[in-house]
Amino acid sequence: MNILKKALMVSATLTTIGPGFAGAEGTVEVLHWWTSGGEAKAVGELKDAFEAQDGTWIDSPIAGGGGDAAMTALRARVIAGNPPTAVQLKGPGIQEWAREGVLNSVDAVAQSENWDAVLPPVLADIMKYEGAYVAAPVNIHRVDWMWANPKALEAAGVTQMPTTWDEFNAAADKLMAVGIVPLAHGGQPWQDATVFEDVVLGIGGADLFRKALVELDQDALQSDMMIAAFDQLRKMRGYVDDNFSGRDWNLATGMVMRGEAGFQIMGDWAKGEFLAAGKVPGVDFLCAPTPGNGFVLNSDSFTFFQVEGEENIAGQQVLAGLIMSPEFQETFNLAKGSIPARTDVSLESFDACALRSHEDLLAAIENDALVPSMAHEMAIPRSIRGEFIDLVTNFFNSDMSSEEAVQSLAAAVARAQ
Ligand code: GAL
Repeated sequence: MNILKKALMVSATLTTIGPGFAGAEGTVEVLHWWTSGGEAKAVGELKDAFEAQDGTWIDSPIAGGGGDAAMTALRARVIAGNPPTAVQLKGPGIQEWAREGVLNSVDAVAQSENWDAVLPPVLADIMKYEGAYVAAPVNIHRVDWMWANPKALEAAGVTQMPTTWDEFNAAADKLMAVGIVPLAHGGQPWQDATVFEDVVLGIGGADLFRKALVELDQDALQSDMMIAAFDQLRKMRGYVDDNFSGRDWNLATGMVMRGEAGFQIMGDWAKGEFLAAGKVPGVDFLCAPTPGNGFVLNSDSFTFFQVEGEENIAGQQVLAGLIMSPEFQETFNLAKGSIPARTDVSLESFDACALRSHEDLLAAIENDALVPSMAHEMAIPRSIRGEFIDLVTNFFNSDMSSEEAVQSLAAAVARAQ
């Protein structure tokens, strides 16, 4: 048992005699949406580490990539007055729940371990409400990634990963010509929005991304560059197979693994999926940032809800300390496909995709090209994100023109504000 935990547990162990306490070392009920192969492996690391400290872990997975179903379940639980102890929840959502007065602070742990000194300020700010930590970050995911099957590319005569959208389209046409699905995609709103935001970054750079998808600037939303982004999305609609509708993202990753498809555009949780299947980066699959110069940030974190009882409070404190321990940040992120949230963890055991992510993250911070993901709830309130993903999905599944798309999007965003 580590010293911090020992200190935290003293009061708990003195008062935990009696029914209802599953163990003396803290209990957590953890609500999350990590149910794919790679995700389950990664969250299993957290469960194992918590149980290794004699804690009791109650698993509450709510399947559904991107977490929309999990967030609906969370709201129902909070309204019923029965919140889980810890929830995979991130970005502005943390502040939204904090303002409702339903979170517990883990600031005592954060202060005693000096989280401020080891977290990038951009993440530390997201984790705090009124100066106190109410959440702990596990990772840094990058959304603007492209995954490919090298054999499929070779069969189509594609010799390198595309660096512009025109190159992407040319490679996709070649794949199509040899009967390989160019783009493995799952037609779910959050996946459509994931591809869309990467395209916006590639067409208009961090500047357009920030103005349109973060600051919700009306001129940027209606700009010619946004029309061009929808044009590219329309082109990509032509590169997916007939069965894309409703497909889970990890099944799309499977298509790339098996060489049925050439590319997938998805955050680096897709790498967790390749790794869980025993695939080797650079050999069985390739990674490259999607065209564009920037970094679309998505960071997972656990947020601590207002629960009572020493056993639960102790569980929260232990979990917070565990999540931020350098050892856990390494093992978890090796499985998840992401890189550690802590800046002081060695990347020696990480693969080339992770190193590229880290390098590009530092460059993006330097060049002011780091942008928060809209699709993954890092940028804007959930209600406004809902307008984006609805519109993008409607566009993807209809013959709406790009001009009509920007007009409708700008109007919907204005209404929602
Ligand atoms: C993201 C989340 C990732 C991931 C993905 C697919 O929003 O941040 O951790 O696993 O959804 O479920």
